[in-house]
Amino acid sequence: MASPPCRISLLLLSLFSLLLFSANSQSAPAPAPSGPIDIVAILQKSGQYTSFLRLLNETQAAEQINNQVNNSRDGMTVFAPTDNAFSNLPSGTLNNLTFQQHVQLVLYHICPKYYSMENLQTVSNPVRTQASGQDGGVYGLYFYGPAGQSNQVNVSTGIVNVPIYNAVRKDFPLAVYEVSKVLLPREFYEAPAPVNSPPPPRGNGTVGSGGAASAPATGSPAGSGSGKMSVGFGLVVSVISLWMGLFL
Ligand SMILES: *[C@@H]1O[C@H](CO)[C@@H](O)[C@H](O)[C@H]1NC(C)=O
Ligand SMILES: *[C@@H]1O[C@H](CO)[C@@H](O)[C@H](O)[C@H]1NC(C)=O
Ligand SMILES: *[C@@H]1O[C@H](CO)[C@@H](O)[C@H](O)[C@H]1NC(C)=O
Ligand SMILES: *[C@@H]1O[C@H](CO)[C@@H](O)[C@H](O)[C@H]1NC(C)=O
Ligand SMILES: *[C@@H]1O[C@H](CO)[C@@H](O)[C@H](O)[C@H]1NC(C)=O
Repeated sequence: MASPPCRISLLLLSLFSLLLFSANSQSAPAPAPSGPIDIVAILQKSGQYTSFLRLLNETQAAEQINNQVNNSRDGMTVFAPTDNAFSNLPSGTLNNLTFQQHVQLVLYHICPKYYSMENLQTVSNPVRTQASGQDGGVYGLYFYGPAGQSNQVNVSTGIVNVPIYNAVRKDFPLAVYEVSKVLLPREFYEAPAPVNSPPPPRGNGTVGSGGAASAPATGSPAGSGSGKMSVGFGLVVSVISLWMGLFL
């Protein structure tokens, strides 16, 4: 027979470890005096990056950026395509890509080093991105400053070439530049595109209106799963603390 005080201390102990665990695994709404840099918050402020934010979230690159910005001495640079940039893509471009290519596309917009605008004008090409080395591809970005104008530089992938005008954020350790086109890597077009075999046509095989058919099926099971789990955790913890509050 366990005595009540013993049971209560056991409960307290498990509650305590639960709290510790949940505090570590998810960012609790703790008072953050000098908050860590958060790429999501930075992009959300402007309101014109919802597509890019969706990709950052879907591929869990946002978390990666925040961690790396916090932990790296080199800082980071992000090229953020506007919603206009995404809507100007030929229809079906994103739907035609595999989830793996979504990840590569996002990583291609991120350099593992901080570059000021002046750095970009003099950097030697190609510049490494977070996608570099994947598939043995270069996945480099090329920067060209026009001879005459100062303070002007273009970023080029070999497929698209676009001027950089705006810095959403420009201070070390994280630079974020607006780009008005999605930076499509040349590697997507050089390698034979992975054929996502279409469902066998049911009739005579004529292809109808292209692109529209594919549903936005690419979810990230891992992400949503862990999301649900931490919500569940929070619930359990609050129920237990409520119960404890009633009894102590
Ligand atoms: C940032 O990095 C420091 C040291 O590496 C670490 O102690 C801290 O917990 C990190 N903060 C966040 C929000 O990741
Ligand atoms: C998407 O894939 C279809 C079928 O392979 C192709 O006909 C179409 O041109 C592709 N669209 C884009 C924008 O790549
Ligand atoms: C920069 O991009 C613009 C728009 O694509 C283009 O007109 C211009 O020639 C480019 N400049 C350089 C140096 O590539
Ligand atoms: C092919 O089938 C579609 C419907 O499945 C039909 O609309 C179209 O007219 C057919 N084309 C030919 C050439 O038979
Ligand atoms: C991020 O993605 C997860 C699933 O991967 C989803 O549950 C969540 O709502 C998304 N958050 C935002 C802000 O889009």
